[in-house]
Amino acid sequence: YNTFLLRSEEVYIDLLTDSGTSAMSDRQWSGMMLGDEAYAGSKNYYHLEEAVQKYYGYKYLVPTHQGRGAEHLISQVVIKKGDYIPGNMYFTTTRLHQELAGGTFVDVIIDEAHDTDNEHPFKGNVDIAKLDKLVAEVGAEHIPYVSIAGPVNMAGGQPMSMANVKECRQWCNKHGVKLMLDATRMVENAFFIQEREAGYQDKSCAEILREFCDFTDGAWMSSKKDHLVNIGGWLAVNDWDIFEAARNMVVVYEGLHTYGGMAGRDMEALAIGIQESVEDDHQRARIGQVRYLGELLTEYEIPIIQPVGGHAIFLNARKFFPHIPQKEFPAQTLAAQLYLDSGVRTMERGVVSAGRDPETGDHRYPKLELTRVTIPRRVYTQAHMDVVFEAIKAIYDDRENIRGLEMVYEPEYLRFF
Ligand code: F0G
Repeated sequence: YNTFLLRSEEVYIDLLTDSGTSAMSDRQWSGMMLGDEAYAGSKNYYHLEEAVQKYYGYKYLVPTHQGRGAEHLISQVVIKKGDYIPGNMYFTTTRLHQELAGGTFVDVIIDEAHDTDNEHPFKGNVDIAKLDKLVAEVGAEHIPYVSIAGPVNMAGGQPMSMANVKECRQWCNKHGVKLMLDATRMVENAFFIQEREAGYQDKSCAEILREFCDFTDGAWMSSKKDHLVNIGGWLAVNDWDIFEAARNMVVVYEGLHTYGGMAGRDMEALAIGIQESVEDDHQRARIGQVRYLGELLTEYEIPIIQPVGGHAIFLNARKFFPHIPQKEFPAQTLAAQLYLDSGVRTMERGVVSAGRDPETGDHRYPKLELTRVTIPRRVYTQAHMDVVFEAIKAIYDDRENIRGLEMVYEPEYLRFF
């Protein structure tokens, strides 16, 4: 009953994730033919470095095989045992790497993010009062960086505003703390700023992306999302010492510092993907498709996170199955049922994803108990979205007859996988 354990051949429409599942363009495929597979100093690496410097603005680049490779490096380099890392809601792999490095994650997202019906336009924002509270409790010397992401995956793909990143920067300056960005879907965040924040309507996604990143000290990236590639990622920073330490480590864990686990052809497709990702029309079409599905569900009054975010629809399993208690995994049940009924694959983002508390060993019970219907970029048509809507509707109509699940096996780390 875990959708990650299905064979893809057994899946009809695959909305498990938008990670590495997008379609590459003809330009990206042409780039694949230009792979310079030299062990060291591949020209594709330099194309990638140029693209990151141009669009994200950071000085130094360390390539990695995907996002969690970069999370590993940054966590090991800057977190000391006993440190606290405040962030705008946890992400599974990000928090685990912070914990494995000896840190404790502290959620500082605004309260609105935990309320599925609240229509706040920037539910990914950091609550500065929560940062103040943490620094008063533990002291700035135990906070290596503030960890921000936009849009916030676990909150439903909810964006963070430019005004808020600016406030975070000011807070970090005041306390001598670094500001690090999970840039995985940051171009989608830029689209939301363009649409919703005063003064940004005439700026391009590329300009907004750059302005946002300029408030931060560095970023890690899973290029499998925004950048439209099947594999790849990077860490980029402005601080030479952090770069030097991460570059030292990358050769141990990923590969040489000019490929970091990617083939030359992967880096070329990635460099081209960065350029394509910032095109305003692309983002409008991508987020527009997610919204189309969201509107069909909203019209039928199926409970989903509002407003609809960037990469997915998040079904509110608590409201969908009010008769299934959280300890019987309502969101996991919904993902399983949806697959059994229609062959549509989605995934759980609730108590199973939240894992167990490392201290007590108990389940963590997050406020949000969600089933994520994630849309890959440039893959499916509007007609597929209609089929997905019909599939969800069929279960909703029959919801009273569906029962919960029991945990019979779980691995130690990242059990939802
Ligand atoms: N940060 C965010 C916000 C992510 O969504 C992911 C991956 C990562 C970091 C880690 O990157 O997978 O390349 O190692 N999210 C995928 C998902 C797995 O389905 O949301 P990775």
